[in-house]
Amino acid sequence: MNEVVLKTVNLTKVYERGGKKIHALSDVNLQINRGDYVAIMGPSGSGKTTLLNILGCLDKPTSGSVIIDGTDVTKLDEKGLSEIRRNKIGFVFQAFNLIPILSAIENVELPMECTKIPKYERRKRARQLLNLVGLSGRAEHRPHELSAGEQQRVAIARALANKPSIILADEPTGNLDSKTGEHIMKLLGLLNYKIGTTIIVVTHDQKMASLTGRILFLEDGKLLKKEKKGTYLGRKG
Ligand SMILES: Nc1ncnc2c1ncn2[C@@H]1O[C@H](COP(=O)(O)OP(=O)(O)OP(=O)(O)O)[C@@H](O)[C@H]1O
Ligand SMILES: [Mg+2]
Repeated sequence: MNEVVLKTVNLTKVYERGGKKIHALSDVNLQINRGDYVAIMGPSGSGKTTLLNILGCLDKPTSGSVIIDGTDVTKLDEKGLSEIRRNKIGFVFQAFNLIPILSAIENVELPMECTKIPKYERRKRARQLLNLVGLSGRAEHRPHELSAGEQQRVAIARALANKPSIILADEPTGNLDSKTGEHIMKLLGLLNYKIGTTIIVVTHDQKMASLTGRILFLEDGKLLKKEKKGTYLGRKG
């Protein structure tokens, strides 16, 4: 049976700039099932990053709510939000955002630093994650010693460190050539298949979106009724 892992109810975000209101999101009602691999597409300025940042508890909506694993996160205080960010969400960004002075394995360990996991366990898990993304031979490399695609794979391993329910990726292929981008989308699909993590990717690239299982569309801050199926069949396929 499909279990809802993430839901928004009338999610609205209004920015005010110089007395002018910008409706970045208007009454978005979204439902994502556990284990889904979903793309959210939309033109530049349609509200994709705004939506992802709110889903990831990095930003707050003007009104409406976000329910993650049954918790209405819009009712949480800063401490509660940071717990959700740490334990339930893994982030992947367009620019990778790796720490340049840390090695690949240290970057993957980083989100586990503020947990109770002992040091040797962290190292072991980071090694397993690098293995999972096909980078076991690059553990000691610093980000500048890795290709762009490899850096994004380290970032994906890092996003998985604390076993999140959901991975949120904002244009994860935006800084990559299309072939490497395709590999990254397929790697995300493989991870979804292997460990069942729910993955939501924001992209304006139709080809990348088509590699997920379900494609949603944002336009002018509104979620369109139309949806498309992607080529990824998932665990059930
Ligand atoms: N902090 C902010 N203050 C004011 N307006 C903002 C802010 N952030 C975003 N906006 C506006 O909200 C709208 C949605 O922006 P958002 O960054 O979510 O779009 P996007 O779909 O991610 O675009 P892109 O594909 O270019 O990344 C845009 O019109 C943008 O100008
Ligand atoms: Mg954006």
